Parts: sequence; structure tokens; C-alpha cells
Amino acid sequence: MTSETPNNVPIVRAGGEDRGEGTRAVHVPRPDPPAQPPVGLATYRSSTFEFETAQDYADVLGDVKAGYTYSRIDNPTVDAFALGVAALESHGVDRDVAAQAFASGMAAISTVLLTLCGRDAHVVAPAAVYGGTFGVLDHVLARFGVRTTYVDGTDIDAVRAAMRPDTVAVWAETIANPTTAVADLPALAAVCREAAVPLVVDSTFASPAVCRPLQWGADLVVHSATKYLGGHSDVTGGVVVGDVDLVARVRRSRIDLGGSLGPDEAFLLHRGLATLPLRMTRHCATALAVAEALADHPRVERIDYPGLGAHPQHALAGKLFDAGPEGRRYGAVVTISPRGGREAGMALCDGLRVARVATSLGGVHSLVSHVASTTHRQFDDAALAAARILPGAVRVSIGLEDADDLIRDLTAALDGLPVE
Ligand SMILES: Cc1ncc(COP(=O)(O)O)c(C=O)c1O
Repeated sequence: MTSETPNNVPIVRAGGEDRGEGTRAVHVPRPDPPAQPPVGLATYRSSTFEFETAQDYADVLGDVKAGYTYSRIDNPTVDAFALGVAALESHGVDRDVAAQAFASGMAAISTVLLTLCGRDAHVVAPAAVYGGTFGVLDHVLARFGVRTTYVDGTDIDAVRAAMRPDTVAVWAETIANPTTAVADLPALAAVCREAAVPLVVDSTFASPAVCRPLQWGADLVVHSATKYLGGHSDVTGGVVVGDVDLVARVRRSRIDLGGSLGPDEAFLLHRGLATLPLRMTRHCATALAVAEALADHPRVERIDYPGLGAHPQHALAGKLFDAGPEGRRYGAVVTISPRGGREAGMALCDGLRVARVATSLGGVHSLVSHVASTTHRQFDDAALAAARILPGAVRVSIGLEDADDLIRDLTAALDGLPVE
């Protein structure tokens, strides 16, 4: 039985083999793969791939021959997304770059850490590191003797002083959550090179449209693709990009640990990449307009945004962040700390009509969270102060709404806060 398409009508020829109903149903004919490449990305939903011979199967599984065996191991749609991120992150980088995609940002982060850490290893990480990363380091890996020294990630001397002979990784975040502190990537890379230790950078808050850490000496970059890469708050994923040999090791761990991305998610994430520069240009321009408009509001105690001249790493951001055709992009998370502490922060969230109270960031909708009662709820006031977070801080992920509407919304909510 064959399927042919004379006059572009798919037909089944008469006189097929006489097989039972079940066999006929399972083995219905399929058209040959199209001779023309599709413009949109094909989604390979299959969990498994067929071989001509048993030897081919063995060779592909043994990485002797290129090919696909099983979608936890590799999948063409997932590879297309990973390759896309590698291409964006490698711009301006003079060495080969590889990438691997994951089911979430945390799958990417935990797999990288489990690749680099042996028993009793040591890691250096910023004190304000993302809570999930802290959880892997302090709740999971600590049970296997891994110790982490947390330092002020913007203090290069503190990072250097924390390094030990058994240090296996220095962790950094391009733009920290929620303080928006910017990591001095070239200086961190120099410290890491001296010690022959990989520098791993979580660049979720930046995306490759704002900063490409490989260009500044990082060995590996990780993303929660759930955020800007996907961009629409409708998909969860992660990705690791960087040095080819290191990424090959990360792939082996991914296969063993199983945090692989699914093809449907890969399709959505791949689609997101095409509009990343457009979205980031708008996200960042709006974020700058919002930060500038609210900086002098009488109810605001502090605004953290790398695009403001008053930001401690504004000059560094000017060096590391992409200039972009419409002006420099400084990211799209603006942290607004109203006067009046925790109550004021929560009231600010509740007073908004355009921005929504929700977790996550990087999507088309503007989202807000009161930091001390959500992402950093484990921190008491002293711990918040040590991390340079004010008790009222509200993290605003600037979406793609019109800047004027967001400024009006935030201004009205700030105006409505009770006067102390
Ligand atoms: C900076 C950062 N890294 C990693 C993650 C984890 O990503 P995911 O939620 O996709 O696992 C997040 C999630 O918020 C994040 O903000």
C-alpha cells in the first residue's frame, strides 16, 4: 500500500497487502517528507525514531553517528530551539557555541550544577541568587557535601576571596532579582580564568537581546526560557548555552536526569525567538520611560533600574548591554519601593488596574509582585537589608502595553497610597 499524490490529491492505491484491522490502523500510510523545507518549524512530536538497521540504532545511541533515537535524548524540534538560542547568544563571540534545552529553567540550572559538582565540591554564588538556584545549592546539593559561599556578587574582591582549591563554579546573574544589580562579567571572568573555574551566568533577566555573557568571558549561560525567550507567559522551558565541551557534559547529565524539553514547548519557544529583539526593544524602552517618570514621585523611596543614572552599575550596564537600533536596552524589570514599608508595597500592587499581580516576568502582560511577601518571603528585615531590598519593594515586569497606560496606572496606585 502506498500513498501517492497525482494532481496533489493524496490517494491509496488498490491491492494493498492483506493485513488485520489493527495492523492496518497502526500502519496507515504517510506522505513522504516534503522535498521543500517548511518555512515554519516542523514539530516532531514523536517520542521515538526508526532506524534502517540495528547497527544504525547502536551507532546513533552511542553518539558515533548523528541522528535521533528517543526524545528524552534528543529531538529535532528541541534542537532547533537550542540552536536558535546558541546563535543569538554567540553573536560577537569568537569561539564555537553549543546549547541544550530543558523542561524548565530549574531543570537547566540543576543539571548544570549536578554536572559541575562532585561530592564535597564548593560553589561561589551571589547572596541575592534566584531562590530556586539557592534551593538546589542549599537543599539538594548540600546533602551531598556541596558547600556554597554566598557573596555580594558585585564585589569582585569578595568573589576572589571566596574561591577555594575545591571551587568548581562561580555563579552570577546578569541582572539580579529584584535589585537589578548588574554583574561585572569581564571582571568575574578574569577571576575565574585565573583559577581555571567555569563562570556560569543566569541571564534570564537580560536575554541575548540585552546582554550576551559569552562575549564577556562566561563559560556557560543559563536561561529560564519561560521568561523573555518564550515571551507570552504560555510555556515553561530552560536552556544552557556555551563552551562546546562543557555543553556536551551537560547533555550527558540531561539525558541521565531527564529534564528534557518537549517538542510542543520547543515549537513555542522557537517561535518566540523570532520576535525577541522586537519585544525587547519595546519592553526596555517602556521600562526606561516608566522608571524615569516615577523616579521623583513623592511616594517612591527608591527605584532600581539599570537605565537610570542613579543606578550603582549604570555605567557598567552601558558597557555590557546591547545598544540596539532604538537606544541602549537596560532590561525590563523595574523595582519600585514605595515609602511605607510592606503595607505600602502590597497596597501598591492592589491599586493597579493594568499591571497584574502574578508571579513570573518577561511576557507581554505587565506583572507585579511584592518582593518581601512572595519571592523573598523567607527573608526577615535584616536579611532583606543585607540583600539591599526594601520591605516595600515591588518588582514590575514591564510588558508590551503602552508606556503611558502603565505610567498612569502606577502613578494612580502610588498617589492612592496612604500618607505616612
Ligand atoms: C533568574 C531566574 N532563573 C531561573 C528561574 C527558574 O526558571 P523556571 O521557572 O523556568 O524553572 C527563574 C524563575 O523565575 C528566574 O527568575
